[in-house]
Amino acid sequence: MERKTFITLILSAVFSSSACVPRQYHFVNQNLNWTEAQRYCRENYTDLATIDNMNNIEELLKNVNDDQIQYVWIGLQKTDSDKWKWSLGDPAFYTGNNSQYRNWAQGQPNDNVDCSNMNPGQWNDYPCNKSLPFICYNGSSKGYIPVLQTMTWRDAQNYCRENHTDLVSVRNQTENQQIEKIRNDKHIKDGVWIGLFRDSWEWSDQSDSSFRNWRPNIPDNVGGNENCAVVWVKSDRGQWDDWKCDIKTQFVCHEDKLVLVQQNLSWNEALKYCRENHVDLVSVHSEQIQRQVMELTRKASTAEVWLGLRHSCTLGIWFWVNGEILCYQNWAAGHGTGVENCSDAVRVGAVQSGGDQRWVSLPQTDKLNFICTNYGE
Ligand SMILES: *[C@@H]1O[C@H](CO)[C@@H](O)[C@H](O)[C@H]1NC(C)=O
Ligand SMILES: *[C@@H]1O[C@H](CO)[C@@H](O)[C@H](O)[C@H]1NC(C)=O
Ligand SMILES: *[C@@H]1O[C@H](CO)[C@@H](O)[C@H](O)[C@H]1NC(C)=O
Ligand SMILES: *[C@@H]1O[C@H](CO)[C@@H](O)[C@H](O)[C@H]1NC(C)=O
Ligand SMILES: *[C@@H]1O[C@H](CO)[C@@H](O)[C@H](O)[C@H]1NC(C)=O
Repeated sequence: MERKTFITLILSAVFSSSACVPRQYHFVNQNLNWTEAQRYCRENYTDLATIDNMNNIEELLKNVNDDQIQYVWIGLQKTDSDKWKWSLGDPAFYTGNNSQYRNWAQGQPNDNVDCSNMNPGQWNDYPCNKSLPFICYNGSSKGYIPVLQTMTWRDAQNYCRENHTDLVSVRNQTENQQIEKIRNDKHIKDGVWIGLFRDSWEWSDQSDSSFRNWRPNIPDNVGGNENCAVVWVKSDRGQWDDWKCDIKTQFVCHEDKLVLVQQNLSWNEALKYCRENHVDLVSVHSEQIQRQVMELTRKASTAEVWLGLRHSCTLGIWFWVNGEILCYQNWAAGHGTGVENCSDAVRVGAVQSGGDQRWVSLPQTDKLNFICTNYGE
């Protein structure tokens, strides 16, 4: 049995691609209002669609395979509270809570407006329809690009997204100093737009994504109750609009690749649970998946969380339950050496919920939370 597994795992390691998709979109060809669509998605998948970046929009639109459709609901809805957030809204760009770094000048923000500038070094809220020079961030070169031509905040955002990645985000004091130096070197007196803006829209799945891709001059809240968001499928393809939530239209759900199950089960029970209710216990074969695992694991109620990682005493190796060998590894010191006490309970692998969140070897009888995967590659 174990030998057969070993052969399969070597083959699948050779043939599997390591592409890593944190969520999958599912188009639903039924006309429902936003709340009904949300319920449908939560019952059948994870939630109404969340979008982090331009690639997600392309991916989502690929799933809408019907020529007649004009627009589809996504999971964005207006709430009662405004929050400051970054135009570069992909949660993958930030670590820890550095998306929350702020360097407001004393007394700021104070004007009840929705955009912000840097001048000099410190931040002020500033009306979005004023014109300022700005600084773009380029994700390929990881560089800051000053643009001296003055534009409104939204035009500056479009400029940066089309020619680079986005308006600049500032994640810590070092980055703030680098950006301030550029402003100063260019002798810009009236400040520069940065990517910080304010809105009250939130994702149905509570995701931190602050990525927005509204049509020009949208949201416009015509009639005062346009509190839900659609993506245009044909004209203005990929751009968003605010709509009344009781309109009925088709929609797109998403399914997260990974789910944390907050039950305390032995490793064997956890494996059975995942295979019955999802697809499998998670196999962490890349740093990207490890990062998603770390984020989920922080919400766990046990000090470690089961992974689909198992030791074979016959072969003296560790392997993933999906059949892959360990290429990427993230063991804590002294763990995962392959030398295990084989007269004891079967040894299996878990990730620590805190600290460096490394992998540890534990007896399968321990009772822990665990992470299931919903779909393969
Ligand atoms: C991108 O840059 C070019 C050259 O500076 C400019 O003409 C164009 O308008 C920019 N794109 C947008 C959307 O502003
Ligand atoms: C910015 O990134 C794009 C690709 O997104 C690249 O083609 C371009 O050369 C970069 N520009 C600068 C100034 O780094
Ligand atoms: C600032 O943030 C960047 C990006 O996360 C990081 O590379 C850099 O080390 C940080 N610097 C400090 C001083 O925290
Ligand atoms: C699981 O175990 C942890 C730590 O012992 C405990 O705090 C938590 O309440 C337990 N959860 C359940 C659902 O029993
Ligand atoms: C291995 O585990 C058995 C059973 O728990 C125990 O009696 C034995 O001392 C362990 N051996 C080592 C080297 O830790």
